[in-house]
Amino acid sequence: MEIKEAKTIEQDTNPPLGERGSGGIKRYLITAALPYANGLKHIGHLAGAYLPADIYVRYLRAQKRDVVFVCGSDEHGTAIPIQAAKEGTTARAIIDKYHPIIKQNFDDLGISFDIYHRTSEPIHHETSQEFFTYLNDRGELEVMESDQYYDEEAKTFLADRYIKGTCPNCGYENAFGDQCERCGTTLSPDMLINPVSMLSGNIPVKKATKHWYLPLNKHEDWLREWILEEHKNDWRPTVIGQCKSWIDGGLQPRAVTRDLDWGIKVPLPDAEGKVLYVWFDAPIGYISATKQWALDNNKDWKPYWYDKDTKLVHFVGKDNIVFHCIIFPVMLKLHGNIVPANVPANEFMNLEGDKMSTSRNWKLEMQDYIDDFIKKENGGTIMADMLRYYLTAISPETKDSEFTWKGFQDAGNNELSSIFGNFVNRAFVMMHKLCNGKVPPFHKEIQDELDRNLITDIKNAKEKIESLIEQYKFREAQFEVMDLARKGNQYLQKREPWKKLKVENNVIVPMVDDAKRIVDNTLHLCLQLTANLAILINPFLPFTAKKMLHMMKVVDRMLDWENAGKIDLLKVGYTLRPPELLFRKIEDTEIAYQVEKLKSGLVKDDANAPIPVAPSHLLEKAAETPLKPEIQYDDFAKLDLRVGKIVSAEKVEKADKLLKLQIDLGFETRTVVSGIAMHFKPEGIVGKQVVVVANLAPRKMRGIESNGMILMAEDANGKLHFINPESDINAGAGVS
Ligand code: 2FM
Ligand code: ZN
Repeated sequence: MEIKEAKTIEQDTNPPLGERGSGGIKRYLITAALPYANGLKHIGHLAGAYLPADIYVRYLRAQKRDVVFVCGSDEHGTAIPIQAAKEGTTARAIIDKYHPIIKQNFDDLGISFDIYHRTSEPIHHETSQEFFTYLNDRGELEVMESDQYYDEEAKTFLADRYIKGTCPNCGYENAFGDQCERCGTTLSPDMLINPVSMLSGNIPVKKATKHWYLPLNKHEDWLREWILEEHKNDWRPTVIGQCKSWIDGGLQPRAVTRDLDWGIKVPLPDAEGKVLYVWFDAPIGYISATKQWALDNNKDWKPYWYDKDTKLVHFVGKDNIVFHCIIFPVMLKLHGNIVPANVPANEFMNLEGDKMSTSRNWKLEMQDYIDDFIKKENGGTIMADMLRYYLTAISPETKDSEFTWKGFQDAGNNELSSIFGNFVNRAFVMMHKLCNGKVPPFHKEIQDELDRNLITDIKNAKEKIESLIEQYKFREAQFEVMDLARKGNQYLQKREPWKKLKVENNVIVPMVDDAKRIVDNTLHLCLQLTANLAILINPFLPFTAKKMLHMMKVVDRMLDWENAGKIDLLKVGYTLRPPELLFRKIEDTEIAYQVEKLKSGLVKDDANAPIPVAPSHLLEKAAETPLKPEIQYDDFAKLDLRVGKIVSAEKVEKADKLLKLQIDLGFETRTVVSGIAMHFKPEGIVGKQVVVVANLAPRKMRGIESNGMILMAEDANGKLHFINPESDINAGAGVS
């Protein structure tokens, strides 16, 4: 969108470092938890860390403070090879697949990272190894041998997610060795009740192994003082509560290495086969991301991590609290870095009455929202902001919250459109109708109580919102912006400019005494309020703010926070554009479709599905399924089975289970509709070879003619697997 330079906002002359009211802070380093690049991320993740971080950063940028916002993919740990096994590919292929998709999803939803880095980058490996060496050389790590769970069949130690069992905290039976997906508790394999290997399904044995440990117990006094005293009033009570229970429970040395082949090698000669623990390297990812950002922008990264006048804030979900409040700060302190000023962790967001869960497919992925709402929009920005609005309105800042599709519709239609959108639209429409499309003058001599109250409300709103954002209370802050828009509507309603002037034969005619001056004042103030609303809503709904700038024909600089509270932002006589649609109505049919989609996508809890490496126990279960009645060879010979290659795959509109495939059979390319959409993403299966029943009579599915059928194997957990040649062979080859 091209925005023309306007004369209403003077060239800014303030220095770039916003020290005004920021307590001597010179720069801000804002991090959002690095998501695992092992699959698509859902709106619970978005609401937990990325959206609040983005609001805060956009606010700081509007304050012209020196701020760097870093994030990126967490590409190590057992989560990655486990997903690779599920998808029948390599760990490297998994991270290369998911990193760009997640990055683009964030971009589509307006999350404005300064860098979205990767922990697989060489600069990160070097930074992590240097960090480890620094601590180890100074004797800050301890080497210990201990007995750890081992899978004798898979011949491997069972780190983190390679082991599952019952959560000692909530009783969930499929908790991972590092964390319970249901209650968020951080675990270690030894804490699991009835542990089972995820690799073979066997009960593991204990075996001795050597590892490097961070002795958290030695830092208890400092942690107690720093968190429970210094920050007892400015960190969220839930964060303090979790830290207190960890500290009071007695901190233990924590292993920072693992027996795995996927990860960053431990940089020591006597550490063959060992890698850094993912939770050791991932937060260092914030540092390597900052280094890369500095390289890309010709800046110095060091002040951001070493200078006391840097404010470091980690945005995370509640399951990440211990790592960001206890383990990483100890690492940072020992390494000579600054420690976080705050860790505003959010609680969980549930979905339609149940916990969001990837394994049960009870979730709304960012990608799905983007596909269903944003890609279909003109430019996409309206629906990105409508989601941002609702997620912030129900942000789980102090307790778990609940996303419902009805709530999303109500928030969009009855709040955002009816209050904010409606006010801006009315102000613009009336200004065009009654003031020739120009900002009318303000006649101070007739200013009254109603005007003065609105002006005070505008000024107060700025201070209130500022203070709430600085306290990480984004939900309340956004409410205050809406409240100001609400006051605008009330003002307009009391003034009723449409009852003071009317248009007859293209001429504006007064209906009461002094109508012109009253209407001028009303619309002058409404337009100044609109300009204020653009500034105040910008951190929350950046696409909307941008659109409002376009309507007002002013440059981005108007959104500088210091302009909020002013009522001379739009110059008298300045021509404004006609209003654009800021939001749109969310229809009942859209909501019904989403609810149905969610419910029909629910799968049984497959978190206990072992990774297909040692399938013997699965074979046993498969044998339990009774055989179909016997057939003769001639029956079988009627089938013409061919090898085909999937050349394209797409979802079938309004059919959650179906994918429309184009399959190359060598002699022709066929359309085949297959009920595998709940098991595979279209983009993940293109290029795969499949066995096709090539002489099956055509049949129509959802109006599409399907010419054949692909064969799949279903394991004991209901998961589908491709049946394909060992290596790529010519398409069309017969199978007999
Ligand atoms: O919980 C997670 O998804 C982790 N990948 C978060 C890592 S945050 C940071 F430390 F990198
Ligand atoms: Zn639990």
